[in-house]
Amino acid sequence: MCGIVGYVGGRSALDVVLAGLKRLEYRGYDSAGVAVLADGSLAAAKKAGKLVNLEKELSVRPLPAGGTGIGHTRWATHGGPTDVNAHPHLDGAGRVGVVHNGIIENFAALRAELADRGHDLRSETDTEVVAYLLAEEFSSCADLAEAMRLVSLRLEGAFTLVAVVADDPDVVVGARRNSPLVVGVGEDESFLASDVAAFIAHTRSAVELGQDQVVELRRDAIRITGFDGRPADDARAYHVGWDASAAEKGGYDYFMLKEIAEQPRAVADTLLGRIDAAGSLSLDEVRITASELREMDKVVIVACGTAFHAGLIAKYAIEHWTRIPCEVELASEFRYRDPILDPRTLVVAISQSGETMDTLMALRHAREQGAKVLAICNTNGSTIPRESDAVLYTHAGPEVAVASTKAFLTQLVACYLVALYLGQVRGTKWGDEIQAVVRDLSHIAGAVEEVLGTMEPVRDLARTLADKDTVLFLGRHVGYPVALEGALKLKELAYMHAEGFAAGELKHGPIALIEEDLPVVVVVPSPRGRSVLHDKVVSNIQEIRARGARTIVIAEEGDEAVVPYADHLVRIPVTPTLLQPLVATVPLQVFACELATARGNEVDQPRNLAKSVTVE
Ligand code: F6R
Repeated sequence: MCGIVGYVGGRSALDVVLAGLKRLEYRGYDSAGVAVLADGSLAAAKKAGKLVNLEKELSVRPLPAGGTGIGHTRWATHGGPTDVNAHPHLDGAGRVGVVHNGIIENFAALRAELADRGHDLRSETDTEVVAYLLAEEFSSCADLAEAMRLVSLRLEGAFTLVAVVADDPDVVVGARRNSPLVVGVGEDESFLASDVAAFIAHTRSAVELGQDQVVELRRDAIRITGFDGRPADDARAYHVGWDASAAEKGGYDYFMLKEIAEQPRAVADTLLGRIDAAGSLSLDEVRITASELREMDKVVIVACGTAFHAGLIAKYAIEHWTRIPCEVELASEFRYRDPILDPRTLVVAISQSGETMDTLMALRHAREQGAKVLAICNTNGSTIPRESDAVLYTHAGPEVAVASTKAFLTQLVACYLVALYLGQVRGTKWGDEIQAVVRDLSHIAGAVEEVLGTMEPVRDLARTLADKDTVLFLGRHVGYPVALEGALKLKELAYMHAEGFAAGELKHGPIALIEEDLPVVVVVPSPRGRSVLHDKVVSNIQEIRARGARTIVIAEEGDEAVVPYADHLVRIPVTPTLLQPLVATVPLQVFACELATARGNEVDQPRNLAKSVTVE
């Protein structure tokens, strides 16, 4: 939520910052702004709406050229998406400029304090107070990093701050608590950003900041200290494993289309190197001993949105393969119900970004109660894996479209691997059984490719439904979370009323919603796996069709039983029952993407949303 960029070096800071903001626009697009240090003063421009509005403004009123600058793309929290509330915020004298991601919870008290000292703040944001406080501190210590440290100590909440001051034009300073901030180390130039994507075109050398740290960035030097003023010794330097082309559309109209198409590779990459010659599975980082894992008597999965749906599917695999009870909980609800946790609880936190505040707070709560946390994450070095006891990275590559697609499929693969790993350590699965499932998983990339090759009728169908108000989704067993995911994709992209139901639950109420020509998507389990399951879902299709529904049936190749009841039939390859979500989800992604396009919606940047949700 909110994207931040800072630059100091020999290039045009404005060009670097604008290009970085373009890459970070997925984090928020309510407004954008930049500030550049030139000729001993600070020049800023900001505009409500997408980055393109700021670019237009800059073409009419250009900023002077300079080698130090900051920029921001906003997802509004305090104050509406207006020009005045857009970042950067400047102090009264216009000497200090600051951009911010997060929420400063005690801003009202700080603002009142500033008002008492005669300052007249212009915006409704929580951020503006920081510009004034920094200016006050800087006027007494003449050191922006020190001023930032002192101000950070006064702030409550989550914040990433990046600031510049006109009096020290070769320095950019950042501070981090609970929101992401990464340093990019170039040749005689340095970068700061919420995500490496912002500077990947210039350098792949990155340093991640720890919690409660301040960084002072010069062209040729980076100094990191804790909020306590001590030099930081835990900053981790790393090489980014992908390049700028991975963060570009590569000929597709939307990032979402590219990311849907990348799923076969993402799935294959997530599996890569997981199993050794002796047939043993491995995770990426494990600071939980085998004996601790054997002692676990409960697994609790915490996640949000699409990642939560991956967790719901994981429950089936974990319980079936390990016989450990598994609960799945929305991370935003988790800590408020005072869950029962102890060192024998394994908490699995699933997050694409690794920065989702609800999930982060849930895992912190779990660790405070003595539970061990295993993270499934797509973002190397992000906060959630850093604070976990074990990590399995999904190798989906950067996911830019706000609606999650390839991250979801790779989260599923990772969940299956975690379930198998637990089965291996606890001895509930034999080596050959594990290898058989891994073999099945290794066929999934090809199966997804096959599904992608047959999506034209799904696109045609989606276009014909563009004027519908409601679409329902039904599934049973692992098909139920797939139905939830299909409905979520449609809501967030097409802005339609879409709901997912457990097919068996329909008769307990929701069937009253069925009316003539209402589109209902049904995910049908394999007839070969659990025939009881399959037959029940076929009966459910008949029940809704008898009441007028237009049935859109997703069923395995060769499943002839569904044919008489399917108004539209979408075939998916034969897959083991537990793994079916990996192929059944793909048509639902394509369906939502096409329907959104047909309704004229912004596919990559749906309204009101942001990719990385760093507020609770
Ligand atoms: C939906 C979507 C969101 C995210 C959720 C969690 O398409 O992308 O529901 O899945 O905000 O995000 P992460 O996985 O980054 O924790």
